[in-house]
Amino acid sequence: MTGVPVSAAFARRAACAVLRTCALLVCAGGLIWPPTPARADAEAGKAKAQTCVACHGPMGNSTDPQYPVLAGQTTRYIYLQLRDFKEGRRSDPRMSPMAANLSKEDMQDLADYFAAQKPVPVAFKADGEAVEAGRKKSAAELCTTCHLANFSGQNEIPRVAGQHYQYIVKQLQDFRSRTRTNDAGNMGSVARNLTDDDIRNLASYVANLQ
Ligand code: HEC
Ligand code: HEC
Repeated sequence: MTGVPVSAAFARRAACAVLRTCALLVCAGGLIWPPTPARADAEAGKAKAQTCVACHGPMGNSTDPQYPVLAGQTTRYIYLQLRDFKEGRRSDPRMSPMAANLSKEDMQDLADYFAAQKPVPVAFKADGEAVEAGRKKSAAELCTTCHLANFSGQNEIPRVAGQHYQYIVKQLQDFRSRTRTNDAGNMGSVARNLTDDDIRNLASYVANLQ
């Protein structure tokens, strides 16, 4: 036997004693409980995400193609979009009210939670020719220099792989028409020269990427 299990057991006993003392104090003094977590946390996000399920689906896997899949999206991008909705840089009549009362900590917790969920492939079945045309257009436009291979996303650049076809089409149209302008110009200049066919083909290609 080494000394490790002994000291581990001792640490556990000590921790138990601390917890018992805290519990006693809470009962006795009516202290504030639970304590406010100091950093973003996916467990807290899970509880806060209950209001999001109605539209974004269980664990962020929406089945209605007008609501974006949030599961597996990058933490940074989710956080920034929530902040943009709250502060009016991005606007949608269904989503904006949902972000209006979120605190910075809520947004961080929600972002941690949804980013940690596993995305389920969307039901959309793309036409083979459209997928091939979309793949070529994506290569010509160098989409993956920002979105990375297979549109898996990084930091403030979203994952688009496995996103709903209908939602992707709407976003590309919104960037093109400058209805959505919270992209620091990145997507505005990309979308400016896309035709309706390009948009449909790109969405067909990207929606079925894993
Ligand atoms: C009433 C329906 C509804 C509810 C409830 C809702 N959302 Fe949304 N959300 C939307 C819609 C619609 C969009 C897409 C808006 C658009 O087309 O630009 C969206 C977009 C988003 C986006 C941007 C995703 C992306 O890929 O750009 C995030 C992040 C988001 N919602 C998070 C949340 C969170 C977190 C909650 C819960 C606190 C929530 N939503 C609740 C409808 C909803
Ligand atoms: C110069 C870098 C860059 C290039 C190139 C680029 N994107 Fe983007 N894209 C971004 C950024 C940044 C955002 C997030 C904008 C924001 O914060 O609102 C974005 C957002 C998007 C969105 C919205 C995703 C969502 O969840 O709402 C789609 C769809 C998209 N890009 C598709 C494409 C396609 C298709 C191409 C190629 C034709 C492309 N992008 C090329 C940087 C880029």
